[in-house]
Amino acid sequence: MYIIRANQALTMPRNCQELSNYDLDGDLQSRDDRIVGAIDDAAVVVDGETIEWVGAWDDRPESVRGGDVGVLQTDVVMPGWIDCHTHAVFAGERSDEFMWRNAGKEYVDILEAGGGILNTVDAVRQASTDELERTLIRRVLESLRQGVTTLEVKSGYGLTTSDELKSLKAVAAAQEEVPCELVACFLGAHAVPRKYRDRRSEYVDLVCQEMIPQVAERDLANYCDVFCDRGAFSVDESRRILETGSEHGMIARIHADEITDASAAMLAAELGAASADHLEHTGDEAIEAMAEADVVGVLMPAVNLFLGTVDHLAPARKLLNAGCEVALATDFNPGSAMTQDLGTMLMLGCTLYKMTPGEALRSVTAGAARALRRDDIGTLRAGTRADLVCLEAPHYRYIPYHFGQSHAEAVIYRGDFAYWTDQVEWEE
Ligand code: NIG
Ligand code: FE
Repeated sequence: MYIIRANQALTMPRNCQELSNYDLDGDLQSRDDRIVGAIDDAAVVVDGETIEWVGAWDDRPESVRGGDVGVLQTDVVMPGWIDCHTHAVFAGERSDEFMWRNAGKEYVDILEAGGGILNTVDAVRQASTDELERTLIRRVLESLRQGVTTLEVKSGYGLTTSDELKSLKAVAAAQEEVPCELVACFLGAHAVPRKYRDRRSEYVDLVCQEMIPQVAERDLANYCDVFCDRGAFSVDESRRILETGSEHGMIARIHADEITDASAAMLAAELGAASADHLEHTGDEAIEAMAEADVVGVLMPAVNLFLGTVDHLAPARKLLNAGCEVALATDFNPGSAMTQDLGTMLMLGCTLYKMTPGEALRSVTAGAARALRRDDIGTLRAGTRADLVCLEAPHYRYIPYHFGQSHAEAVIYRGDFAYWTDQVEWEE
């Protein structure tokens, strides 16, 4: 058992009524304090893998008042960050495509011509499970240093039953080696493989009849995602795949309206998906439907920076004002967002999406947990898992503001120290 004593603890209350529109003449700072559930001079008591108690230092329980419980001093303590949308299990790289895009070729044209995602598919098919596992481990450790204790990882670069299973097995194998939870998501419907170009319905059959049952049977993923957009899968194809996923106990998520308004966010609402991700072209009606159906909007501003599409940003404020929970994520992948820097996403959430620092920080903890339909992570309260990040910062608003470097001085996963710097101070 130990205590973390922090100048500020961000508890991230699960139900937050404050996320609708802010008033520029109002007290933005107090509103943000409520959004993050800030406690000044706080104590977090960790027992084993679990948070035992959270509150003001002066109110800490008798049982931890004696001198025999270690006290870690930090500036800001908050739930471990959750990067709830990545494609981190991949091989190869696509810097040539990056050059072509910047010279004027469009992402979707490259994909429709049989490149893009399909180039990474070639590389993944050639890679062994071992190779995929090793590169994934390195990437996870990189995310961990920033404070990420849960990393969602999608398949979708295999596109045959055996290569999709190989990718998901690599995720399961990496899980054994890293102090960070890997949440596997099956994305067999990421692109139509070249071989099935003129018989796409056969590929959808393969996903539904072979891949989903085998992934479910081997318990390799609890989530099913589809890229529903121009150049990828239609609404009807997506519906069939996600419904099949649900029949096998998989929670639905959708890559929605990234390139065009494909009515994919509407489908997410219709199916009661956990999240609709991207949303760059989603309209007002679908936003209302998402709020109604409690679909989390997962927003990934790195994509706009990386594809040079900052003129088409996801409607973050509209989502928040409609009452949707929002989560920022990296979308880490070799084609549209070659970055693992979730901290920079906090900054971009503020500058591009006009989120407040509190909303941004909430989005990578409580918001992201909601996008995964999890309530054991993402908030600090008695009984939740002791996944925590201790940050060196004068106050929490500083974290999105000073971007491009990690402020984490200690990262705790299931109560154990997963990463720490020499800034960490213990008082015995
Ligand atoms: O989320 N949109 C589809 N999938 C990824 C891109 C994958 C890739 O280009 O390799 C995304 O942007
Ligand atoms: Fe993605």
